[in-house]
Amino acid sequence: MQIIILPDAQAIGEWAADHIARRLAAGRLQVLGVATGSSPLPAYDALARRIDGTGAEGSAEGGAPAVSREALETLTAFALDEYVGIEPDRPESYHAVIREEVTEKLGLDPSRVHVPEGAAEDLEAACRHYEQLIADAGGVDLQILGIGATGHLGFNEPSSSFSSRTRVKTLAPQTRRDNARFFSSEDEVPLHCVTQGLGTIMDAGELLLIAYGEHKAEAVARAVEGPLTSMCPASIIQWHHDAVVLLDEAAASKL
Ligand code: GLP
Repeated sequence: MQIIILPDAQAIGEWAADHIARRLAAGRLQVLGVATGSSPLPAYDALARRIDGTGAEGSAEGGAPAVSREALETLTAFALDEYVGIEPDRPESYHAVIREEVTEKLGLDPSRVHVPEGAAEDLEAACRHYEQLIADAGGVDLQILGIGATGHLGFNEPSSSFSSRTRVKTLAPQTRRDNARFFSSEDEVPLHCVTQGLGTIMDAGELLLIAYGEHKAEAVARAVEGPLTSMCPASIIQWHHDAVVLLDEAAASKL
């Protein structure tokens, strides 16, 4: 695991965008795993600025290539999770967040962008179908991750099995409190979600975990230096063969 400490969220976003741009230019990124939450937003924004060299001088610092529209149009993307029972057109849904922050910003082909179907009638079938879609796409090449205060990845809350696949989970009370800001009240936050499993996430060729801010320091320390335990689901990244953790100094302050 590589831990890279950068000055701030913007620098993290630039680093991530450089990395993704290089992989795209080298033809080593066909399937991108995308995450919701605020952590990856600077990376999506920085990537959008590189499209066809629309950013400064058409290439990033250090000579990272600009991103071609064609490479993005043929990119397939899979999101990690979705709330159960929230229709995809509701603004609180992760479908809506991914549409706005990823698909539209990056000019991806909407038919290639997948989000778990949390509003499906048969959730188990929808979960199986999602796993099949990922497998049919040849697996995720690079998975972007945030980390929750509970140490969750996606919505894999403490006690999630390390070998889990896409399934329905119950949200931890802490996560419902943390995400209440996107709803009119905490009571409106669904109790359940559909999330890729830790086993699904671990199948990705590379993991890119992004965290910044003091409020992430504890979860980051447990994930990166703590014991490998399902009580801190993110600790599983220690076992991944190609994981990069991008932090600012505040998020790294308890390492
Ligand atoms: C949500 C998402 C996670 C994300 C987490 C952290 O709960 N399901 O995938 O990592 O929020 O969000 P933020 O980046 O806003 O702190």
